[in-house]
Amino acid sequence: MAMTKARHRVYAMAFSQMLVCLLLLSDLVASVSRDNFKTCDQSSFCKRHRRLQPGASPYVVLMESVKIQSSGMEVQILNTKNNVRLLMQVTAIKDNTARLKINELNPLRKRYEIPVGDALVGEPKTQDLKVLERSDSSISLGFEENKILITSRPFRVDFINKEEPVVSINAQGLLKFEHFREQSPPQNEGQEEPQDAPPAPAEEQADENKVEMEIPEDKEEVKKEGEGKQQEEDDNNEPGMWEETFKTFHDSKPYGPSSVGVDVSFPGYEYVYGIPEHAESMALKTTKSGDPYRLFNLDVFEYELYNPMALYGSVPVMLAHNEKRTVGVFWHNAAESWVDISSNTADKNFLSKIADIVGGVSNEIPQTDTHWISESGVIDVFIMMGPSAYDVFYQYAQLTGTTNLPPMFAVSYHQCRWNYNDQDDVKNVDANFDTFDIPYDVIWLDIEHTDGKRYFTWDASKFPNSIEMVNNVASKGRKMVTIVDPHLKSDGNYRVYQEAKDQGLYVKNKDGNDYDGWCWPGTSSWPDFSNPEVRKWWASKFLFDDYKGSTADLFTWNDMNEPSVFNGPEITFHKDVKHMDGFENRDLHNLYGYYVQQATAEGQLLRSNNQERFFVLTRAFFAGSQRWGAVWTGDNMGEWSHLKVSNPMLLSLSLVGITHSGADVGGFFKNPDTELLTRWYQAGAFQPFFRAHAHLDTKRREPYLQPEENMQIIRDVIRARYSYLPLWYTLFYEGEQRGAPPMRPLWVEYPTDKDTFNMDDEYLIGTSLLVKPITEPGQTGTQVYFPGKDQVWYDIASYKSYQGGQSTYIEAPLSKIPVFQKGGSIVPRKMRIRRSSALMTHDPFTLVVCLDKTGSATGSLYVDDYHSFNYRKGEYLLRSFLFQHNEFHSQSGDQFGSFSTKEWVEKIVIVGLSTRPTKATLNVKGVESSLQLSYSSDNSQVIIRKPGVNIATDFSIRLS
Ligand code: GLC
Repeated sequence: MAMTKARHRVYAMAFSQMLVCLLLLSDLVASVSRDNFKTCDQSSFCKRHRRLQPGASPYVVLMESVKIQSSGMEVQILNTKNNVRLLMQVTAIKDNTARLKINELNPLRKRYEIPVGDALVGEPKTQDLKVLERSDSSISLGFEENKILITSRPFRVDFINKEEPVVSINAQGLLKFEHFREQSPPQNEGQEEPQDAPPAPAEEQADENKVEMEIPEDKEEVKKEGEGKQQEEDDNNEPGMWEETFKTFHDSKPYGPSSVGVDVSFPGYEYVYGIPEHAESMALKTTKSGDPYRLFNLDVFEYELYNPMALYGSVPVMLAHNEKRTVGVFWHNAAESWVDISSNTADKNFLSKIADIVGGVSNEIPQTDTHWISESGVIDVFIMMGPSAYDVFYQYAQLTGTTNLPPMFAVSYHQCRWNYNDQDDVKNVDANFDTFDIPYDVIWLDIEHTDGKRYFTWDASKFPNSIEMVNNVASKGRKMVTIVDPHLKSDGNYRVYQEAKDQGLYVKNKDGNDYDGWCWPGTSSWPDFSNPEVRKWWASKFLFDDYKGSTADLFTWNDMNEPSVFNGPEITFHKDVKHMDGFENRDLHNLYGYYVQQATAEGQLLRSNNQERFFVLTRAFFAGSQRWGAVWTGDNMGEWSHLKVSNPMLLSLSLVGITHSGADVGGFFKNPDTELLTRWYQAGAFQPFFRAHAHLDTKRREPYLQPEENMQIIRDVIRARYSYLPLWYTLFYEGEQRGAPPMRPLWVEYPTDKDTFNMDDEYLIGTSLLVKPITEPGQTGTQVYFPGKDQVWYDIASYKSYQGGQSTYIEAPLSKIPVFQKGGSIVPRKMRIRRSSALMTHDPFTLVVCLDKTGSATGSLYVDDYHSFNYRKGEYLLRSFLFQHNEFHSQSGDQFGSFSTKEWVEKIVIVGLSTRPTKATLNVKGVESSLQLSYSSDNSQVIIRKPGVNIATDFSIRLS
């Protein structure tokens, strides 16, 4: 039994005496119980792929089978060792993206493919692919400025952008595609360990998958060549191919081996990023001496840092960056996957044959080689050709969509804890925030608010009138969130459970019965969220009539949706659990949490008749989850190391589309000391999703409970968050349009600055703020690297300026988080901080203009009603700001939106003027008037007071 989690002690109280004993024992376990989770060696398919040696691939392209269609090219690939044929499709996708798909030509049964509309937002739009050259041994295809070169023997595909090879597939010859096959009768019937029964070698199998087609003579030769080298291919005499046991858990593998894998090389690249979720640095490390990075959504208790173990979510997207360009690869597969990474040098001989780049280059060209391995499904890879990081964000956004513009409250501060005990508790916390003048937008209720962990219900004695409670909170413009997990307590009297049972909505075990397992409520079942009908049913549970005691101000938190199954293998589903259409959890495991969040978001849409924006926080996620809400990094610890790792973890998520993400402020487990808590609030206030959360066993740690000094600092930084909400909101709007994340690594903006490629302890918010949170105890200062040689940066607190292109020591006593505004930027803020963001809706803006060395700056501001979908009908304002030649201009940033609002411009702060102006003249539609001007010699700020113009109005201000 895998019940080794300390936190389950709590669950046990409600569950059974027997478990209490077990769980008390578990308190002895200090950190992650690594042996609950597989290593590559313990996962037979990973092991089979990982031991392949680079060398000649047994696969050859059958050039005579090439078919060119308007939507792309198709060609057969032959495994010369077992004669199995594969079908490869290559398509060009609009906006500089290529797609390469390999499936079996004639599979014994349909292989799982992620339905279009799930991870992918729709069928990707293709464009023409032209044949550039064709011979018996290769074919090259062109689109936009790209060339795709397919070489027949050994099989490889090279992607070339403007004469530079940027990605190669199967250059190492690690392609391995395990075709479906019939299992031959076991050789030793009745043997004790059936999982070790060696199936017959491939050649002896009754294998319908082989398509007998004449192999041209020269291919016969290739066939022989291939045989010796790819010794592992189709070795059927392997334990673990037809069934597998991990600890006490048996995986029946009714369909046998079905894994796929291939190498993807990045010639010219030393740095690769992405493939979250791992508690890891942003720049990924070589995996030579350990396990590959694993992508398999798991509930890992007290996770360790800086290792490749799987965590709660998976996004199989990798970005590679060098001084010249950024490229991305999206491995569109939702099965358990592993990714090996190694640093090598490029094969210049080969590359010089296919492109110009190597001419004249005498030095070695670095290359990062990666090897992608998935347990089932097909090979379906998107190559996003960049060439800039922003292009890759856009290309990926075209495939999987962007983060929907969150409602303003979602970008504000969230107060959570396991648990706020009852209505009085909620009332007190809410009142205390007001008493201590600390803004917050959302108060959260964890699992204890329910009637015995039955989601969509309330504990009637503690929450007798939830509607009144929510309304009280909402009267100050605030919201509430309740947790709704996907496990439904097996209890015939629990309506939601029984409905799903009666309608046959649960995932099934291998025998076809409703699967059950343990989670918070005890024995539970899990709806099959992969089924659109089930999602529809789930969505209907959020209707106000159905979810009694809920209101339009109540939003949702989906947890444990990997899913977490306390007594399951690796604390999750058995792999042979069945979903719709007979597919197994093995095929789509990493999508389960995605679907839970989708169904929940659709529930919120349903209840508001698609009028109001939804907000759902999820722990498990996959590519595309950004469309359904926010993500947090799960059960971190109240330790300095966890504060520190939150930056690279959130940067990695940001790079692959999961842009509204955050870590539990303060750390979930343990009691952070006041210094750590204070520093954590400072970091969280400048990260995209800002929520404090804490375990049931921890001491209360709401900001107002802190010692006076800490409380003041925490209050100041939460208030700073509120002052920057217009900036965050504008960035989320821009992100919805083009996919760029609000939180960005420095290299995204300074792509040629090698010093930034590995930098993950400081980052940018948009392009205008540079943040370096303090993540070490006792620190009173830190080295800050200021990017951009021609740039100047201004401390947001003092407006002291710093020259770009160098590092400087910055004093950072406990009260200060080093944050700088870029010279050349105009940042919109709101300085009248109130109890919640909603109460600031009509408040005026302060525009902070920090000038660059030429005395110019630009910026933008997005405004709408901050909660509904009306902006999609054009009810918004996009304002564009410019300061140049001593004149400030506010203009409409696009011709589409219009929105009437009371918000106006209260103040303009200008920093970095070379001469002191004495006069400010406002010009609105040709009518001029004088404005009050003040000057602060403290770092020469010029303050223009009360232009008083509505934010929707075009105006300019001339300084003289
Ligand atoms: C999980 C979540 C945590 C939550 C707890 C109880 O551990 O990650 O945030 O508080 O469950 O619901």
